Amino acid sequence: QICDATERERTLAMIKPDGLLGNYTDKIKTIILESGFGIIKERMVQLDDEKAALFYAEHSGKSFFQSLVKYMTSGPVYVMVLEKPDAVSRWRALIGPTDARKAKVSHPSSIRAMCGSDLERNCVHGSDSPQSAAREISFFFGDISPAVTKHDEL
Ligand code: TYD
Ligand code: MG
Repeated sequence: QICDATERERTLAMIKPDGLLGNYTDKIKTIILESGFGIIKERMVQLDDEKAALFYAEHSGKSFFQSLVKYMTSGPVYVMVLEKPDAVSRWRALIGPTDARKAKVSHPSSIRAMCGSDLERNCVHGSDSPQSAAREISFFFGDISPAVTKHDEL
């Protein structure tokens, strides 16, 4: 082995309207930074029906879709591009299960347990795969320069 390479990976994190309304932004960003993620990009966005539906297009046939779009447009969201090795799965692990009510029981130290309320109002989003992450990052931030693999000095 000539050098150590650390594969950086990116994911999209979002604080949903209930997270912003409950003033959880600073607390969540502190958890993010203390967990060793870099925050590459961040911005506040007010989604409209069309954008929210497009973001959650994979769920467009589901019974909860209309309600989900209504929730996601009820106030601004805060989106961030997070970077570190295994960012996608690490961020999903930090936020906990989809149903915040169950998270409070099974994953009490997760972010959804901290600030979510139920299956719909779960306070935060995380990409579910590197492919989803790429789509969701360009959805909010367009083309940004890719993660760089850092090598030790030779
Ligand atoms: P999903 O992608 O299954 O969950 P996750 O956010 O953990 O990736 O669903 C997307 C969002 O849709 C979820 O965060 C909350 C909402 N949702 C409901 O309102 N009801 C449901 O039954 C499900 C499965 C999700
Ligand atoms: Mg999902």
